[in-house]
Amino acid sequence: MQQKTLAEVLQNEAAANGLDDKLAKLIEAVAACGVEISSEVACGALLGVLGLAGSENVQGEEQKKLDVISNEIVTKAVLATGVVAACASEEMDHCVAAQSSERLPYLICYDPLDGSSNIDINVSIGTIFSVLPNPREDASAPTDVDFLQPGDRQLAAGYIMYGPQTQMALTFGRGVMLFTLDPRTKTYVLTNDNVKVAEQAKEFAINCSNMRHWEPPVQRYIKELLAGAEGVRGKDFNMRWVAAMVAEVHRILCRGGIFMYPRDNRDPSKPGKLRLMYEANPMSWLMEQAGGRATNGHVRILSIQPEKLHQRVAVFLGAREEVELVTSYHNAA
Ligand code: AHG
Ligand code: MN
Ligand code: MN
Repeated sequence: MQQKTLAEVLQNEAAANGLDDKLAKLIEAVAACGVEISSEVACGALLGVLGLAGSENVQGEEQKKLDVISNEIVTKAVLATGVVAACASEEMDHCVAAQSSERLPYLICYDPLDGSSNIDINVSIGTIFSVLPNPREDASAPTDVDFLQPGDRQLAAGYIMYGPQTQMALTFGRGVMLFTLDPRTKTYVLTNDNVKVAEQAKEFAINCSNMRHWEPPVQRYIKELLAGAEGVRGKDFNMRWVAAMVAEVHRILCRGGIFMYPRDNRDPSKPGKLRLMYEANPMSWLMEQAGGRATNGHVRILSIQPEKLHQRVAVFLGAREEVELVTSYHNAA
């Protein structure tokens, strides 16, 4: 079977589904960033890109050199496309608007390097992105408030994972496609054209070191999973934690399961650790498009009206039956 390249897939999308050529151009630009970041990641210490940058981001988190390098690569590339009115990143205090005298159609949010704690130990990391419409009708420069649109308005979303292979998951709201980067030709090749997540699961992902801080519905759900075949669930579950959302989501897209980063009692001002605009929204859309579910324990993540650019949110995503169960425990509490 002849495998299609990303360029060919985007041409097909334009012909069959009316994909805007400007959106196709933006996706090509993000994919090209993935090629560049992937090669920096692959060289690691050889290029001197490991370790701390010696700075903090707006959320008070220490930045690694690769967080900063990846942010520069993506920011420069998306602003150069001529189709992005403004971009917002986990690593920047505020959005950055393009210099343009004409109205540009898109906004883009990204987590340039997800899973930073894995960088120095050569474990999977990734780039996550979410494209939104520019709500401005004129050429004026968007500001942070223009980004505050629910995830249901996304026009494209995906991630690029730098693992043993570099792979990109992509959705335009017509299912999920998975591409593998051929490092010999620097071309993305479609290796799964319709990714599906099983409705049931036997694997879960949560950072159990936080167990004592969790709220009662999460305590109950995890206790039942841990009780396995002897408990109310009547079956054994397996557990994994990579500490990179991109890798957990990728595993769930490939072999099923549920991923959780709940809110907890450590800092009541933070409703979870993960960020709505850069992590939760794009990953939730991919999950739903693959037949899975994504909630904050109460409602669909994609229905949440964001109030702040760097807003955090609790995340439960993956297999439909498991996400529905843990959500029902929250809503019954
Ligand atoms: P980032 O590296 O972009 O800050 O994101 C890390 C996130 C996410 O990818 C992962 O699921 C989670 O943090 C891991 O958190 P713990 O270190 O608390 O397990
Ligand atoms: Mn992240
Ligand atoms: Mn990050």
